[in-house]
Amino acid sequence: MQLLDGVLVSAHIKEQIKQEVQDWQANGGKKPHLAAILVGNNPASEAYVGSKVKHCEELGFDSTLLRFDSDISEDFLISEVERLNNDETIDGILVQLPLPAHISGDSVINAISPGKDVDGFHPISLGRMLLGQPTFLPATPYGIMLMLEYYKIDTTGMHCVIIGRSNIVGTPMTILMSRASNPGNATVTMCHSKTRNLREITRSADIIIAAIGRPKYVTADMVKPGAIIIDVGINRIDDSTRKSGSRLVGDVDFDNVAPLCSYITPVPKGVGLMTICGLMKNTLQAAKQAKELIG
Ligand code: GUN
Repeated sequence: MQLLDGVLVSAHIKEQIKQEVQDWQANGGKKPHLAAILVGNNPASEAYVGSKVKHCEELGFDSTLLRFDSDISEDFLISEVERLNNDETIDGILVQLPLPAHISGDSVINAISPGKDVDGFHPISLGRMLLGQPTFLPATPYGIMLMLEYYKIDTTGMHCVIIGRSNIVGTPMTILMSRASNPGNATVTMCHSKTRNLREITRSADIIIAAIGRPKYVTADMVKPGAIIIDVGINRIDDSTRKSGSRLVGDVDFDNVAPLCSYITPVPKGVGLMTICGLMKNTLQAAKQAKELIG
């Protein structure tokens, strides 16, 4: 079994991004600038946004964090997104999800200018992705593709089983893995909470991408020996042996699955770090495209 090491791969990609930013600036380009919007104080969202802002600093990007109380109106949030759309100093906009229940995530995402949609969640971005046109890929699927590419894993002809059908991970992942490219060229099956005989299907998988959001959901009896396992889950569970009283686990029962498979991503230090790489690559691309558009 080989670990697909998010620390190693993200460090490599971040070095490339840093160098590209320096070259870009040496040629008269300006620092990429990411604006992040955080509504409320969901602890997981706080941690994700904090990490994104920290990475901007590390890679030589500017960042602006806009924080709003959870009782702001949808209209106000949309007007803030529009203000950022029209601000030429901002290259990329991300609205951390989930939003409070009274705000439509779709309406807010739809308000983001597609040229600044560095999360790749706008319908135009997703439509372009579906058609294989240049666009911003959603950060987590993008990061997974970068990881498979780094380890030169040839997925051609493999049966890829994706568990989870979210707009952010499961659904875009099906498109990318079935594309005529490598990584890609896989035969893809998407499974979800209503799938019958899930175990039968996952047992025929050469590669499993688990994005269900349930701790240790994928167990050893669901995995074919030699399979590749990509674990997208980040779940906090109680653990009285830890000082904090809890720890993070993935959607895969790592301890029992790892000995069976050929490659596996750990949680933490796996896909999560790759998501940041995807976002940062998109933001740099947005900055470069903005320059082309403005001239
Ligand atoms: N919530 C969970 N994952 C993500 C992500 O990749 N981007 C944003 N904006 N919100 C999220």
